[in-house]
Amino acid sequence: MKTVVSGIRPTGKLHLGNYFGAVKSFLQMQETHNAFFFIADIHSLTTHPTPADLHSNVHQVLAEYLAMGLDPEKCTLFVQSDVPQISELYTYMNMNAYLGELERSASFKEKVKTQRNNVNAGLLTYPVLMAVDILIHKADVVPVGKDQEQHLEMTRDFAKRFNHMYGVQCFNEPEAYSRTGKLVKVPGLTNNGKMSKSGGEGDAIFFDDEEKVTHKKIMRAVTDSGPETMNQEKPEAIQNLFDIMSLVSSTDTVDHFDALYNKCEIRYGDFKKQLSEDVLKFISPIRERIQDIKEDKSYLQQVTQAGAEKAKSSAEATLKEVREIIGFRRFY
Ligand code: ADP
Ligand code: TRP
Repeated sequence: MKTVVSGIRPTGKLHLGNYFGAVKSFLQMQETHNAFFFIADIHSLTTHPTPADLHSNVHQVLAEYLAMGLDPEKCTLFVQSDVPQISELYTYMNMNAYLGELERSASFKEKVKTQRNNVNAGLLTYPVLMAVDILIHKADVVPVGKDQEQHLEMTRDFAKRFNHMYGVQCFNEPEAYSRTGKLVKVPGLTNNGKMSKSGGEGDAIFFDDEEKVTHKKIMRAVTDSGPETMNQEKPEAIQNLFDIMSLVSSTDTVDHFDALYNKCEIRYGDFKKQLSEDVLKFISPIRERIQDIKEDKSYLQQVTQAGAEKAKSSAEATLKEVREIIGFRRFY
C-alpha cells in the first residue's frame, strides 16, 4: 500500500482553497493509502505566534480536519510537535541543505519581501522541515496545492542527495499529488490570485465564519459592468467566481449562468446570490460539526494521543535506520 503524508500550518481558520487544494484529497486518500495527516505547528513558529494563539490555532485546525471528515480510524492524524523524531531528523537533514538552494526557494523570497523584519533561519530552512515531515514516513505521494510544488522538488533533491551521499536507498522520492491530475489553485474573491488567509479582507471563504459574513463577502466580490459581446472571454474576476461556483454548485447551475453570460443576460446579483447559497449549503454542515468537535476536549485528547503514538512509531523506525546510516553507533 502506498503512503501519503500531508499537513497544514495552523495559522487560522481553514478556507475553501485549503479544502479543495488539500483536504478533499486527504479524504479520498485515507480510504486507499497508508495515510498520515498532521498539523504543522512547528512550521507556524516562523511567524512568531503567541503561545495562546498557537494553541488555539492547533485546536481550530484539528476540529476542522475532523469536521471535514478525516477519520482517525482510517488515517494517522497528529500534531507535528508531538513527534520529536521530526525535529531530530530536521537537525541531520539541515547539514545537507545548501544556502544557495534555500535562498532560491520562491516561498523564502516571498517571505523576505512580506516579513522583512522577521527573516529568521527557520524560514530559510522551512523546505528542509517540510521534507522531513514527508520523508520520515517514506511517503510516496503528497497532496498539496500548486503553491507547494517547488517544496516537493526540494524534498526529492534532499532525499536523492542523502541516498547518494551514503550509498543507500533510504528515502523515497515523493510526488505532489492532485485528485484531478493537475494541482489545484482555488482563486480568491478579491481577484488577487489564489484564495489565501493572507489575501486581505474579503478574499477567503472560511468554513468557520458566520453565514452572514460569508454571504456578505460573496455579494461584495468584485465584478464588472457585464459582458458586451456574445460569447466573450470572461475577465479574471468573473472567471474566478465561476471557478468557485464549479466547486460547490451543480453542473446545471454553472451551465445556466455560463449560458446567461454568453448571451450577455447575466445579472451578477443573481449569480452571486446563487453562489452564496451553494457555498453555504456546502459549508454549513461542516461548520456545525466544527463547533461541536471543538468543545469535545476528551475526544480531541484521545485522537491526538493515538495519532501521536502511531506517528512516533513510524517516524522512529525511519530515524533508527538513519542514525545507523549516518554513523551514530552506540558504545553502550
Ligand atoms: P494560505 O495560503 O491560506 O496560508 P496554506 O499555505 O496554509 O494556506 O495552505 C495549506 C494547504 O492548502 C496547502 O497544501 C496549500 O497548497 C493548500 N492551499 C491553500 N490555498 C489554496 C488555494 N487557493 N488553492 C489550492 N490549494 C490551496
Ligand atoms: N508547507 C505547507 C503549507 O504551507 C505545509 C506543510 C508542512 C506540508 N509540512 C508539510 C504539506 C508536509 C505537505 C507535506 O501549506
